[in-house]
Amino acid sequence: MCGIFGCILKDRDAAPIIHSALKRLEYRGYDSVGEAVLHGTNLTIKKDEGKIDEVHALHNLDDIAGRIGIGHTRWATHGAPSQINAHPHTDCNGQIAVVHNGIIENFLGLRRELQERGHAFRSKTDTEIVSHLIEEGIREGLTLPEAVRGAVGRLEGSYTVAVVSVLEPDKIVCARKESPLVLGVADDALYCASDIPAFLPLTNMAVIVNDGELVVLHDKGYEIRKIADGTTISREPEVIDWTPEMAEKQGYPNFMLKEIHEQPLCLRNTLRLQEQYLELMTTFLDRAGEVFLVACGTSYHACLAASYMFSKLAMLATHPVIASEFVEQHGSAVNIDSTILAVSQSGETADTLAAVGVSRQRAATILGLTNAIDSTLTRISRVYICQQSGPEIGVAATKTFTSQLSVLSQLALRLAKRRGKISHEEIEDLEEKLEQIPDIVEKIIKSREEDVKRLAMKYRDKNCFFFLGRGVSSASALEGRLKLLEIAYAPSIAYPAGESKHGPISLIQPGFPVVFICPRDGTRRTIIGNIMEMKARGASIIAIIEEGDKEIKGLADEYIEVTKGLPEILSPIPYVIPLQLFAYYMAVARGHDPDRPRNLAKSVTVQ
Ligand code: AGP
Repeated sequence: MCGIFGCILKDRDAAPIIHSALKRLEYRGYDSVGEAVLHGTNLTIKKDEGKIDEVHALHNLDDIAGRIGIGHTRWATHGAPSQINAHPHTDCNGQIAVVHNGIIENFLGLRRELQERGHAFRSKTDTEIVSHLIEEGIREGLTLPEAVRGAVGRLEGSYTVAVVSVLEPDKIVCARKESPLVLGVADDALYCASDIPAFLPLTNMAVIVNDGELVVLHDKGYEIRKIADGTTISREPEVIDWTPEMAEKQGYPNFMLKEIHEQPLCLRNTLRLQEQYLELMTTFLDRAGEVFLVACGTSYHACLAASYMFSKLAMLATHPVIASEFVEQHGSAVNIDSTILAVSQSGETADTLAAVGVSRQRAATILGLTNAIDSTLTRISRVYICQQSGPEIGVAATKTFTSQLSVLSQLALRLAKRRGKISHEEIEDLEEKLEQIPDIVEKIIKSREEDVKRLAMKYRDKNCFFFLGRGVSSASALEGRLKLLEIAYAPSIAYPAGESKHGPISLIQPGFPVVFICPRDGTRRTIIGNIMEMKARGASIIAIIEEGDKEIKGLADEYIEVTKGLPEILSPIPYVIPLQLFAYYMAVARGHDPDRPRNLAKSVTVQ
């Protein structure tokens, strides 16, 4: 997730406005920053790696003449943070500048095609191909807006682009598909941005640009066109009554709820990973003598779920290990035949890096899955995958967890395909269901949020909860418990449901809330037995069930239904959504700040 901004001013320089707007978008990405400003037929570009303040101190982002310009603050996905990979990107002649937020899936093929036509590329980004595609369109005699429309029409994936050119120096052209784009309209200026906060201090008149639309901004106003056929659409500005702080959360009361709702977009982006890195990591996993999945907290729960995926789909035995215990438990046994897949959203968790450090010393192969492309974990991994979730501001991991699960299930599927361990039909069905997951998650959030909110109000005064699941749902149970524990401060216990009889059931008294995660999978029969055990002792049963599961509905005191027909192995992704919302609304009901829970940090960089 990156932040883009553009402005056309009547009689002021654009650079200071771009700089301050990018500062307000910094929560969307902050590993590099850049701007391009038109002054007559001059195009001046300043860009570099580093946070906005660092780059400003080096290059003075306010000091460029010209009243039309675009800017970008980056959260790297393709190409490590560097000056050359920072946006804006230009065409061969430096006449067209582009900033982009999103992920272009087919950029490698397009780059090859453009290179064959003589285009020289400077960066490793997917974005740069857009400037060269526009150059091609201009060369064929198209106007800038039509050249942009033709260029984005060839892109697969998600994008919001903003474009300026010395060839038509009186306009900005922007277009969007999936990634957000909004216009700001003032008497003496026009703005385009990824998010409203960028221009809210300057105007509260906004125009939301919809998917598949292109906009031409010029001195006389703005014109919206359909990318598909170029037909124009009229849309009046609307008043935004948010405060700047609310705007940063896109109107949500806090980042955690915004990030829960962002999951469908993140999951779509996680399905657009670069093929070669998925294949390379699959190869290392396939050839490993033994595989350890090492992480902390929520990332460990993703590893636990992944161990079921690798086993059931690819017949690969993997060992999920809590990072802080890894050295004591396996440090002496790890060797050159060991492969460590370290999972860390921040890529900076000290316990995880310590486990990796010992493993490297013992010649193990290190693989990394992270959300931070320039983190320590990426630098010490033989191969790493960046899950492309965008910055996660809430301390509690939500969107990064479901994205981790999506990446890990893609790896398990590729391994299964490569090893021929499950039928072609099964693989095709799983791949199809994985593609459906973002829409399914979107549907669950939309249709179940109010039900979960009601549950949170009903149970808000309870002072202990059980979370139980079997098989892969035992990982979902652990994650649901951690969420409730860390942001609602509600003491909770999670364990595989089969363990109840071996001690924990002694805690059960009438009214004791027990959350069961029960997808319709191979564990359903036995989990119904566990529900009966708890019910017999007066527990209050809250069941996360498959839509229409009448039998469990009849047993539960409360239930939340999840879309039916999902393969069990993918169930942790949709089944965790009600658990995230439950923890969130419990925290709110108890008067706590879900974004900044007490005693916790977003990245635990001490052991
Ligand atoms: C999860 O909600 C917590 N914030 C915490 O458990 C977190 O998952 C853990 O600290 C690991 O962080 P990492 O993924 O950045 O390594």
